[in-house]
Amino acid sequence: MKSLKGKLAAVTGAGSGIGRAVAIDLARRGCRVAASDIQADAVAETVRLIKSAKGDAKAYSFDVADREAFYQHAAAVKKDFKAPANLVINNAGVGLAASVLEMKWEDFEWLMGINFWGVCYGTQAFLPQLIESRDGHVVNVSSMYGMISGPLTSAYNAAKFGVRGYTEALRIEMKAARLPVEVSCVHPGGIRTNIAKTSRLATASGNADRAKFEKWFARMTLTTPEKAAQIIISGILGNRPRILVGPDAHVIDVVQRTVGIRYQWLAQTLLNPLMAGMKP
Ligand SMILES: NC(=O)c1ccc[n+]([C@@H]2O[C@H](COP(=O)([O-])OP(=O)(O)OC[C@H]3O[C@@H](n4cnc5c(N)ncnc54)[C@H](O)[C@@H]3O)[C@@H](O)[C@H]2O)c1
Repeated sequence: MKSLKGKLAAVTGAGSGIGRAVAIDLARRGCRVAASDIQADAVAETVRLIKSAKGDAKAYSFDVADREAFYQHAAAVKKDFKAPANLVINNAGVGLAASVLEMKWEDFEWLMGINFWGVCYGTQAFLPQLIESRDGHVVNVSSMYGMISGPLTSAYNAAKFGVRGYTEALRIEMKAARLPVEVSCVHPGGIRTNIAKTSRLATASGNADRAKFEKWFARMTLTTPEKAAQIIISGILGNRPRILVGPDAHVIDVVQRTVGIRYQWLAQTLLNPLMAGMKP
């Protein structure tokens, strides 16, 4: 995709953080945007911001973990904009801090429904439209936690490693079949968004310290959502298979490739003290 002008993009999780910034930036570059989020008010505000800058966007509200709702959404977008989508940005996501030992199935399934299945549903619901557009691109948001694991992030790691594997396989398939769809997997480092506020915390003590967790997250986040959006869109235009967002994601990429499995020692020594009071 060499230009975004006149293209149609579906962006999930567009009510906050990275999704909102990507939706606004895409619209600024002339893309028509189908912005969606489970929070209707939040996505309505994103669309208001786009329209006030003379962009073209429409707000949708549904749960990405609901497969049927995602397929209905894809059909509604095509109908409303009278065209097949060119881009799907599967960005909606949530966090969970819990040890494997004590994690509740309910929390694990909640996270996988959104962060893993939501990405697969979005990909497969929109794929026929992207092919039909003759100039399509799937953008799936993983994380630096799709490259390394950490303490208390097993569910998040499972989903984000899963997104990476699924997305890389899709890219290979699209190339092998010579279909007109590019595929990128996004690995953000820490981005200053609301994700820590909406994350579920479930620790051994049963009374995880949310204030401490949010403070730790604030210290770990080096990049603004606007900068993240810029990097993601450059990655789309550059057709990059792997889009690393932020200096920390670049460091993690190098560490993981150079020290191999020994990164686990670093994660144990560096990440645990930062999460003081939240140890399993
Ligand atoms: N912020 C970071 O440091 C960071 C790092 C790596 C990866 N990511 C990933 O980036 C993506 C965006 O996260 P963010 O940091 O912008 O968070 P955010 O909380 O600011 O935004 C996430 C949005 O997703 C929406 N959402 C949540 N559950 C949903 C559901 N079931 N259906 C539809 N929408 C839903 C929320 O309402 C919210 O508007 C996520 O996939 C996250 O895992 C974030």
